[in-house]
Amino acid sequence: MDRLKGKLAMITGAASGLGLATARRFTEEGATVIINDVSSAAAEAAAAQLGGHAVAFDVSDSAAVTAGFKEVAATFGRLDVLVNNAGIAPPMTEDERAERTAITTEMVGQIQAGGPVTTFLDTTVNLSDGEWRQMLSIHLDGTFYCTREALKIMNPQLAGSIINLGSIMGTAGGAGAPHYCAAKAGILGLTRSLARELVLRNIRVNAIAPGFIETPMTDSIMGMQRDMIIESTPMRRFGEPDDIAWAAVYLASDESKFMTGQVLSPNGGYHMSQ
Ligand SMILES: NC(=O)c1ccc[n+]([C@@H]2O[C@H](COP(=O)([O-])OP(=O)(O)OC[C@H]3O[C@@H](n4cnc5c(N)ncnc54)[C@H](O)[C@@H]3O)[C@@H](O)[C@H]2O)c1
Repeated sequence: MDRLKGKLAMITGAASGLGLATARRFTEEGATVIINDVSSAAAEAAAAQLGGHAVAFDVSDSAAVTAGFKEVAATFGRLDVLVNNAGIAPPMTEDERAERTAITTEMVGQIQAGGPVTTFLDTTVNLSDGEWRQMLSIHLDGTFYCTREALKIMNPQLAGSIINLGSIMGTAGGAGAPHYCAAKAGILGLTRSLARELVLRNIRVNAIAPGFIETPMTDSIMGMQRDMIIESTPMRRFGEPDDIAWAAVYLASDESKFMTGQVLSPNGGYHMSQ
């Protein structure tokens, strides 16, 4: 209790999954939370549930982000913590998902049978400019836009903690999501660069790179794909949203005062080096 007493924290994409769990733990630890989400109804509902404040905007819309942070500055006049969490998985229709599952199942069957492999995932060759841009703009542009606007508040304070959501996919890679992996790798590079730039202002910048965690984002990972992830995870399961929320509490709190430019990776042992 009280690990974040008196702190004001903005969490993007906080109406669901990891963001919502983080907002809940932050609140319990004494922080006041500002819940951002692209859906204003969802942000309002989460804020009402936690006794926080809702500020809805799309993190990939530069002008909307600027307006959102101006609202935060006008209402509160300060900001202690920013969690850049908003994100999407590659959007897929049910049919596309079923097709991908069928391809993966056939491909893995061929590998297990010793080959030859004649069925391929072929994601990159079929990826559109729009799909690439959407992924980069929500994850990487969004993290940049929100950080830039937060710094307009944090820089004069000479204090702050920024926490960026990467992923093990940013370092380990993952067949079938080159745009997601590229965006998450970019976020880790951005984190380290910001950490060096901002250290003299006493603003710490760290990342969390989760493994596979049970949230609405991973609900649709089914069948053989889910089995393969579990088999590759020494703990033999997906993580819980709280596994990430507690890492965020630590990085937001003064307990992590010697941590900057670091990546915490709760991942059940899936990937053992960042
Ligand atoms: N769940 C996992 O296994 C996992 C693993 C590694 C990294 N991550 C990352 O953690 C973060 C949260 O993921 P989650 O699993 O909680 O997903 P989620 O789908 O449960 O929640 C994501 C939230 O972000 C919001 N959002 C999406 N686009 C937005 C935008 N443009 N502007 C503002 N809000 C937006 C959504 O509305 C949603 O409320 C993401 O960045 C994701 O890439 C998740």
